[in-house]
Amino acid sequence: MNDTTDAQSTASAASPIGKRYYITTPIYYVNGLPHIGTATTTLLADATARYHKLRGDETYWLTGTDENARKVMEAAQKAGVETQAFVDEVSRRFVEVWEQLNCEYDVFFRTTEPRHARVVQEVFARLLASGDVYKGIYEGWYSVSEETFYRDTDVDAQAQRVLVNGKPTGAVVERLQEETYYFRLSAYADRLKSHIENNPNFLLPESRKNEVLAFIDNGLRDLAITQNRTGWGIPVPGETGKVVYVWFDALINYLTESGWPDNPDWQTLWPADVHLMGKEIFTRFHATLWPATLMALGLPLPKHVVAHGWWLVRDPQTDELVKGSKSGVPLPLPSQVVSLLHEWTGAPEPICVDALRYYILRDIRFIDDSEFSLSMLASRYNADLANDLGNVLNRVLRAGYHTGAIPTPRALDSELIAVAQKTLAGYQEALNRFDWGIALQHVSDLVGAVNLFLQARAPWQAAKNGESDAVADAVYNALEGARLAAYLVSPVMPSASEAIAKQLGVTFAPFGSWEEHARFGALVPGTPTGEPAPLFPRIDKKFVQAPPAPTNKQPKPKKEKQPMSDTTAPATPVTPAVNAAPAEPAGDSHPAGDGRPAGDQITIDDFAKIQFRVADIVSAEKIEGAKKLLKLRVKVGPDEERQIVSGIADAYAPEELPGKQIVVVYNLKPATLRGVESQGMLLAASDEQGRAILLHPDKKTEPGSKVK
Ligand code: MSP
Repeated sequence: MNDTTDAQSTASAASPIGKRYYITTPIYYVNGLPHIGTATTTLLADATARYHKLRGDETYWLTGTDENARKVMEAAQKAGVETQAFVDEVSRRFVEVWEQLNCEYDVFFRTTEPRHARVVQEVFARLLASGDVYKGIYEGWYSVSEETFYRDTDVDAQAQRVLVNGKPTGAVVERLQEETYYFRLSAYADRLKSHIENNPNFLLPESRKNEVLAFIDNGLRDLAITQNRTGWGIPVPGETGKVVYVWFDALINYLTESGWPDNPDWQTLWPADVHLMGKEIFTRFHATLWPATLMALGLPLPKHVVAHGWWLVRDPQTDELVKGSKSGVPLPLPSQVVSLLHEWTGAPEPICVDALRYYILRDIRFIDDSEFSLSMLASRYNADLANDLGNVLNRVLRAGYHTGAIPTPRALDSELIAVAQKTLAGYQEALNRFDWGIALQHVSDLVGAVNLFLQARAPWQAAKNGESDAVADAVYNALEGARLAAYLVSPVMPSASEAIAKQLGVTFAPFGSWEEHARFGALVPGTPTGEPAPLFPRIDKKFVQAPPAPTNKQPKPKKEKQPMSDTTAPATPVTPAVNAAPAEPAGDSHPAGDGRPAGDQITIDDFAKIQFRVADIVSAEKIEGAKKLLKLRVKVGPDEERQIVSGIADAYAPEELPGKQIVVVYNLKPATLRGVESQGMLLAASDEQGRAILLHPDKKTEPGSKVK
């Protein structure tokens, strides 16, 4: 599919009159407070809605809370609070957090609202009448923490735990035997498969589609959709002592919001344009159960169902990376991270909120998982915001050669025009797939190109030489690049980009159209520029270089204010990968008019250029006349050997090396040492005397395995 057509198909042009671009997040369980994981999907929705507004779409986005679950009821009981009061309070905390994160949703949906119970009961009654729901007996496993039914083959019966990679390390399950109503999910397997196959952008990212198809091929079984319980949940019509299974109830929220079936305007919202979520609730619920329910009701399916990966955190006990969660190794609360950013940078809260929004959306992956750490947040902030975006403005607006108004250039720079076009194409293509990480990477490329352009044109030098035309060219083109970048990041950093726009003397939303702003050359010469001010003060290197592994000795984060007891909705401790040292004084990240930032950091893209590989040492020998050097033959692939010369002779005797597994830099240009060619380099630490300590993989692996 070509970029433009898909961009248009997601815009209002392709929609029925009055149809709004409808975006949803999952509705979150209220058994804990929102953390960085839940914030991720919510921020994806907010940025996507803001982007579609820029494109001229009328948007509508929903978030909310899933309140009828048994685990929510049990959390309230544990807290000794009446369930309704409990859910009211936690739900209120979600609203508070989303407001702090500047999320402009249209509705905060709560499944305890009576309008929702009515629609769920209507769906139930219709499907009972159509034969899609029938009565039976459920005998099997249930996990309360995941609110999921499991098959015998999914569970270790003795350990009463879900199997993960064949091991009983998953959620705790209990055995149930009860009368229930089933939804005839099995009847929809073929229709689901053909919908998925005929609509290539229905399930995104593409790679998850196969996971869903395999899940269906494994045999879709009818699903129990009621549970025997009283007191909490949506009652099953015509029954006593039964409530609707929480997932069946929860998914319907997306439809309830449209006003279906009574409101004649329900089609101005339905079908949803995109359901966003984390990957754990994709396959089983949003990509099969939900579309099958809609098929059974004869309703159109959502256009896109999109899952992102997880934030992983380091488990302080095992040092392994695990999914950050409420019940396991925690992810920080957004407010804690915003406070830390404020401490480190001295920047005002809206800028710190934007920095967090940027980090989350830049670094969450759609296909893989990402590690969340404060040191990575600080590195990302310094690299992309302090050094790059903030620096363009500093280097121009705060420099002596800038006259306070947008100058008239002799011409637009053709190289920057080309970069801008590439950025725009890549950005739009990525956002057709809702992948903000890639979209922001394209914006970073533009900003990088503008900094290089400034470096090459050196307007500070041109000014000294009295070359006013050259200064005007450099200033106009650099500021125009910054303007375009700020416009493109505005859905992610609304406050920061507004501040940039102000410094440039321009206004973005709600004025003007996408076509007007999203092009290179929109700045109008003569426009007075605003008051220059540093936007993203740099985070001191001390923070960034602190040891990444969390330890118990780290300082405790500030506690969130806690209206309820600690056991109910715990304030999640920050995983302290960074020392909470005093903040660097606010100020310029780099003085205006100087060169590029000191090269003490590399970007992930720089790092990605280095290819590390596991290698087997085949042989080792001394080199005559070179006391410190050894010549090694190493195997760096199934059929590939290399010769490496290395200064490790004072630490290792040649005979002890063959058979050892090491890590080498595979794509290093060959060099000649003492007349012997070295085709790579090995990795080693050193002891107090400076003698080499070779690095070995923790377990033996194939020579040639990539190290990342
Ligand atoms: N209530 C259900 C959803 C019903 S939707 C009809 C639910 N709620 S939840 O509170 O458990 O939230 C799950 C969502 O939280 C995920 O889809 C994802 O948005 C987010 N995340 C929770 N932990 C996460 C990570 N560690 N990383 C990224 N996102 C994660 O499931």
